Amino acid sequence: MSADPAAEAARRRTFAIISHPDAGKTTLTESLLLAGGAIHLAGAVAARGQARRTKSDWMKIERERGISVSSSVMMFEHEGCVLNLLDTPGHEDFSEDTYRTLTAADSAIMVLDAAKGIEPQTLKLFEVCRLRDIPITTFINKMDREAQDPFALLDEIHAKLAMDTAPMYWPAASGQRFAGMLDLATDEFVPFRRLEAGEQGFAGQERQKRGGNDFLLGVGDDVRAELEETSELARAGLPEFDLQAFREGHLTPVYFGSALRRFGVLELLAGLRRHAPPPRAQKAMVKGAETEVGPERSEVSGFVFKIQANMDPKHRDRVGFFRICSGRFQRGMTLKTAAGKGFNVHNPMMFMAQEREIADEAFPGDVIGIPSHGGLRVGDSLSQSGEVVFQGIPNFAPEILKRVRVRDPLKQKHLRKALESLGEEGVTQVFKPMHGGDLVVGAVGALQFDVLDERMKAEYGLEVIFETSPYQAARWVSADNRADLEAFVEKSAAQMAEDVDTAPVFLGKSAWEIGYVQEKNPKIRFSAVKERAA
Ligand code: G4P
Repeated sequence: MSADPAAEAARRRTFAIISHPDAGKTTLTESLLLAGGAIHLAGAVAARGQARRTKSDWMKIERERGISVSSSVMMFEHEGCVLNLLDTPGHEDFSEDTYRTLTAADSAIMVLDAAKGIEPQTLKLFEVCRLRDIPITTFINKMDREAQDPFALLDEIHAKLAMDTAPMYWPAASGQRFAGMLDLATDEFVPFRRLEAGEQGFAGQERQKRGGNDFLLGVGDDVRAELEETSELARAGLPEFDLQAFREGHLTPVYFGSALRRFGVLELLAGLRRHAPPPRAQKAMVKGAETEVGPERSEVSGFVFKIQANMDPKHRDRVGFFRICSGRFQRGMTLKTAAGKGFNVHNPMMFMAQEREIADEAFPGDVIGIPSHGGLRVGDSLSQSGEVVFQGIPNFAPEILKRVRVRDPLKQKHLRKALESLGEEGVTQVFKPMHGGDLVVGAVGALQFDVLDERMKAEYGLEVIFETSPYQAARWVSADNRADLEAFVEKSAAQMAEDVDTAPVFLGKSAWEIGYVQEKNPKIRFSAVKERAA
């Protein structure tokens, strides 16, 4: 194996799967890991999830509501490529967390249920990908069930997502009549065979060449005629795959299959290997100058896109998920934040499908877990020199604000500490009013308060009470001229607060009030998004 970071980066694909709940994300993940030999038994992902869940109490919510709250990373190899699959939380309340996870992905697979097409959550997640120009590969799943007409599905993608669709394969019917798919590039037919119960491996069989004796052998006349006609129409009427248009996010290659029957999955993987982008250059400030940092830069650099605390409730451990953007990382290296704080990374973790391992080295595109006892924040840039600051990992202004008190007044101090540490993790945002009083907690979605409540109990032994706060909106404030900002902060002190980084935040009683105050104070910028600069 070469240790040249640029060569290693070139064979890496770091991607996320986006889908509406129940479209088949978990099943596809499992099939992909099976294909990569990372797991050996179907059902292993679910089983592992179960084991992990029983370990930590706060994930009760995850169990009860059947949603995935935490995101994880899985690394596997396939045909010389290293694939880093980032799991994105599926529930709409977690859009902020999802957004941050997608900042670490170079591309995404969008899974659609062939009977349902684009669903609300698919659309939301897609919009997040578009904001970041992340190229998308489409996988139309559950072809073994009655599906919508493939033309209608592609039309819907085109209309709702404003993207060209280039089918790479064309399906022969669906449901009971599903017979396989035609490779539109090579004109070979991949026959579908239902896996026997408990059968391992993949359902794809020998490809059948057009003109060969076995071409479409065993496929009924009606399905055969339908396939010939519709695949011709697709070839004539739909765009061809275009690498540049895909990489720029204007076109999505479309694959068909069944994650459950493990059909079409190898073809999807081959597509990822061939077309999905390797780690891309990221916007950064280096020594105060705006630039792009690509994998070829020799120094190790990257950013933390997620912090997971208390993976093991017995130890107050925190793991920062660090996406490497450049250089060859080696165990024991010291990495610095732009503020000069150094982390000696003795025990970096790599997340394989079934276990965590200590990483001796890692390359651009990889995600390693950096254990720390605090001090690392979501959005932190780390590099050997401490001079690289990646841009664009935002905090969003919360849409719900509540006052928080602890039932036992003697525990006020603990409350603040616990909230601050969950705030660092990005679970919720914590604002400290300048004029004292109860802390204000903000979240982008209502479910985050439930998570907070559970975790305060399970991990910190604190019973908290959330009360309605007089505020409905928060905006980070800044100004070109320091004196202007100070004057505004002083004048509005009753409604000013500080976030975890002591940045000034204006708390508004309504969106209308924010607009009004903004109009009265033209020199002040009110921002609903705060981009952390390390
Ligand atoms: P999600 O992570 O996107 O929420 O979806 P998940 O993979 O859990 O799949 C949701 C349901 O759809 C599961 O059924 C799963 O077995 C089924 N499914 C996924 N892919 C396919 C496919 O290609 N064909 C068919 N026919 N079904 C598929 P379930 O009944 O909810 O769960 P289970 O009891 O089968 O595990």
